[in-house]
Amino acid sequence: MCAKYLFMLCLLAYSAEAQTKIFNVKDYGASADGSTDNTWSDACKWKGDTNVVIPEGTYMLRSVIFNGPCNGAITFQINGGTLDGQGTATRQKCLNNSCQILFTSMDLDFITNGRIENLHSFDSKGGHFIVFGSANMTFTKLSLISPANNRNTDGIKISHTNGINITSVTIATGDDCVAMISGAKNVRITDVFCGPGHGISVGSLGGGNPLELPVEDIVVMNCTFNGSSNGVQIKTWPFPLKTPLKVSNFTYEDIVMINVQNPIFINQQYCPEHNCDLSKSSSVQISNVSYKNIRGSSATDVAVNFNCSKEVPCQDVTVEDIDLMSSGGKGRQKLSNFCFNVKGSSFGKQIPPSCVASNRFVSAPLPN
Ligand SMILES: *[C@@H]1O[C@H](CO)[C@@H](O)[C@H](O)[C@H]1NC(C)=O
Ligand SMILES: *[C@@H]1O[C@H](CO)[C@@H](O)[C@H](O)[C@H]1NC(C)=O
Ligand SMILES: *[C@@H]1O[C@H](CO)[C@@H](O)[C@H](O)[C@H]1NC(C)=O
Ligand SMILES: *[C@@H]1O[C@H](CO)[C@@H](O)[C@H](O)[C@H]1NC(C)=O
Ligand SMILES: *[C@@H]1O[C@H](CO)[C@@H](O)[C@H](O)[C@H]1NC(C)=O
Ligand SMILES: *[C@@H]1O[C@H](CO)[C@@H](O)[C@H](O)[C@H]1NC(C)=O
Ligand SMILES: *[C@@H]1O[C@H](CO)[C@@H](O)[C@H](O)[C@H]1NC(C)=O
Ligand SMILES: *[C@@H]1O[C@H](CO)[C@@H](O)[C@H](O)[C@H]1NC(C)=O
Repeated sequence: MCAKYLFMLCLLAYSAEAQTKIFNVKDYGASADGSTDNTWSDACKWKGDTNVVIPEGTYMLRSVIFNGPCNGAITFQINGGTLDGQGTATRQKCLNNSCQILFTSMDLDFITNGRIENLHSFDSKGGHFIVFGSANMTFTKLSLISPANNRNTDGIKISHTNGINITSVTIATGDDCVAMISGAKNVRITDVFCGPGHGISVGSLGGGNPLELPVEDIVVMNCTFNGSSNGVQIKTWPFPLKTPLKVSNFTYEDIVMINVQNPIFINQQYCPEHNCDLSKSSSVQISNVSYKNIRGSSATDVAVNFNCSKEVPCQDVTVEDIDLMSSGGKGRQKLSNFCFNVKGSSFGKQIPPSCVASNRFVSAPLPN
């Protein structure tokens, strides 16, 4: 039932169409002036499946909260499908009069069985989507576009969520294309195009929040990165925790890199503001990470960079069939790999030669 509309945000949307009650915001007097209306509360109270319809038009919104729990499955349908966060204009205003919060275009909290489909999110203020405390979510056929220099505009930021599939999504933004942080579990990312942006990232983690949960069971497959600062990365802070945080079971497979600065990156010295004590090491224990069939080009001299923690070295990292050349026209030989405190093994084609070897610490110098 979703496919016939230009855009749909289907929450609990596995209903039988025949019984679906339609709520049109225009019938409730919604208009371009931002006046409030009761469409949502009536739809949410309805004992049965509902469809909240926003007809085509331009609507100026302030922050709007759609609260549950609701009595039935709700399809939230925006005809036309574009969300314009007007982030660039807001940032201009904030230059002189610093703004505290740059809001996310859509914050999806505590949703079970949600499907977000056919949406174009443009120029978000903060991130495009946040997913928190949810389960069994699908994001598909989306484009999330922000200027590369608008910082903190994550594409999809996931935490405390078990079961999320992201597929056929194009992301060009000023921060992570996808960020998986505390408690992101069972995430499957396929056919995602990322760039510009900071990559598909696990983390940052291990910055000192004692309530932080592991990130586990992640699959990234069939994705393309073009001109992003990172490709597939795991980033953790050089910060001692009382008990190590364990993150494990990540698979990265069939990935194309085009002119990516750090195509394959484990950075356990993550400190973007350069204000950390780098004599400390990260307490995030990374294990069981597999990289397979990753090819393309690097914009720097380093292809694979595993900069792991001295305190808790990376375990069971496997690399198989890696073929990365320089995007600067310098060819294959000029690239190197960097390994620090990583344990694991390599198989198949390794261009440039892998520095991960079985069951021992390996260190390879950086190219000068
Ligand atoms: C910010 O302030 C400067 C002068 O302090 C002014 O020239 C500029 O136009 C202001 N920018 C915005 C976006 O208000
Ligand atoms: C997950 O959500 C889909 C609809 O998006 C639904 O068909 C499926 O039954 C859900 N799975 C579980 C385990 O709830
Ligand atoms: C994600 O996709 C996989 C493979 O197609 C499927 O087994 C799984 O149920 C999907 N999960 C969700 C949350 O839709
Ligand atoms: C590893 O992750 C995959 C994909 O999410 C999952 O199917 C598998 O059960 C996980 N393995 C363990 C040991 O948790
Ligand atoms: C990856 O892409 C290939 C070729 O387009 C396709 O056959 C395969 O099903 C895709 N796999 C996933 C997990 O999307
Ligand atoms: C990668 O990005 C460059 C620069 O924006 C563009 O010219 C090129 O067509 C892109 N390549 C692909 C495969 O999208
Ligand atoms: C390690 O990763 C592989 C591939 O995702 C998975 O099949 C296996 O269950 C994982 N093992 C552990 C102990 O997490
Ligand atoms: C690895 O981390 C160290 C800090 O411990 C840093 O000095 C070095 O530049 C990093 N190496 C690479 C290749 O990123």
